[in-house]
Amino acid sequence: MNDDKINENNSEENVPKICRRKFLNTMGNTATGIVLLGGLGVTLDFLKPNVILEIPKEFKVGPIDSIQPNSVIYEPEQKAFVVRDEQGSFYALSAVCTHLGCTTKWNASGIGGNPKAIISCPCHGSLFNKKGELIQGPAQRGLDKFRLRLEDNQLVVNTSEIVSDEEMILKT
Ligand code: FES
Repeated sequence: MNDDKINENNSEENVPKICRRKFLNTMGNTATGIVLLGGLGVTLDFLKPNVILEIPKEFKVGPIDSIQPNSVIYEPEQKAFVVRDEQGSFYALSAVCTHLGCTTKWNASGIGGNPKAIISCPCHGSLFNKKGELIQGPAQRGLDKFRLRLEDNQLVVNTSEIVSDEEMILKT
């Protein structure tokens, strides 16, 4: 009977004692820390600018006298070709393929032995002529044409306004 009592006392001495107050303090501090970290995360997220920078729908090219006839200017930000034809007139085409939206490329000398295939899509091989008309699919239609106007001797291209073939040419 006495031996049991002694063993019991020995085992209790080996266990580190944590008082109730210390345990509750530790738990309280831990919970407070978690709440503060969560609050800090939300605050930082709130302070971070949540702005999506939009590409301007209009852009200027020019002065027009500096653009040679029979030349093309590629605007990478708006993905647009601005063309001055042999007669000196201007038009602007979207460089975005009407199949699945890849960016097309301008190849002045033609593609695959076809001198009329000036614009090509690297994704699935659609071909367009220099006016953006479809030569070969899988695209089902030609490239979009943008509205152009003249302002202070500069071309203003409006990518939000798609025009017909008849409206696309700006004569100077
Ligand atoms: S995205 Fe241009 S051919 Fe498919």
